[in-house]
Amino acid sequence: MVAMADPTSFYDTLVDELETMRAALPPEEGGSFFNRPMTERELIEWLSFQAYYELRAAQFIGRWLADTPERDAFVLLAQQVEDEALHYEYCMRALDRRGIASIEGWKPEPEWEEWIDGWYPSGADTIERVASHNLAGELGACNAFVDIRSRVPDDVVKTLDRIIPDEHFHMRIANTVIDAYAVDADQQHRVRMRVRRTFELEQAGRVAYNRRMVSLGLADPGDPTPPMPG
Ligand SMILES: [Fe+2]
Ligand SMILES: [Fe+2]
Repeated sequence: MVAMADPTSFYDTLVDELETMRAALPPEEGGSFFNRPMTERELIEWLSFQAYYELRAAQFIGRWLADTPERDAFVLLAQQVEDEALHYEYCMRALDRRGIASIEGWKPEPEWEEWIDGWYPSGADTIERVASHNLAGELGACNAFVDIRSRVPDDVVKTLDRIIPDEHFHMRIANTVIDAYAVDADQQHRVRMRVRRTFELEQAGRVAYNRRMVSLGLADPGDPTPPMPG
C-alpha cells in the first residue's frame, strides 16, 4: 500500500528526498559529476556532453508535445523546447570559439545513452516525464552548473548564466505539473519511482564521465579532485 502525500507539497518532498540522497553520497563523489578543475581539453569534453544533453532534451520534449493532453503543460513544455534548443546553440557557440564546429563525431558513453536517450524519453505520461527530466534531471544539472561555474573561463560562465535561470523555470514546470496532476497514490508512486531511478542513472553517468576523463588522460584514477594545475 502506497502512502499518499499532501498533493500541494508533494513536489517539495521529492526535492527533499533527492537532496538527502545526494548528501548521503561518499564525500569523494561529491554531489555532482564535475568535481575537478577544468582544463581546456576537459572543458571541450564537458561542453560536448552538455551540447548533446541540451540537443536531446529539445528533441525528446518536442516529441512529448504530440502526446500532452494537459493544456497548461503543453504550453510550458513548448516553451521549454525553445529554451533547450537555445542552450544547445549556446554550448555549440562555446565549442565554436574553441575550434569545434560539430559534435557529430563525438560519441556518448553507454551510461549517458541509457540515461538521456533511453530513460528520459521513456516516461508514460506528462507526470512521469517531468518527474524524471524536469525535477530530478534539472536539479542535478543545476547543482553541476553551480559546482563548475568557478572552474571555467569567463565566456563559459556567461553561457552558464544564460542557461541556469531557464533550468530553474523548467523545475518550476515540474512543480506546477506534479502538484496539479500527481494527485492520487498511484500517480505519486510512479512519480517517486521515476525520480529515484533518475538519480541512480545520473550517478552512473557521473562515474562514466570520470572514467572517460581517466581514459583521455585528463584525470588520475582514484583521484577525482586533483589539485588545480599551475
Ligand atoms: Fe537546458
Ligand atoms: Fe532544461
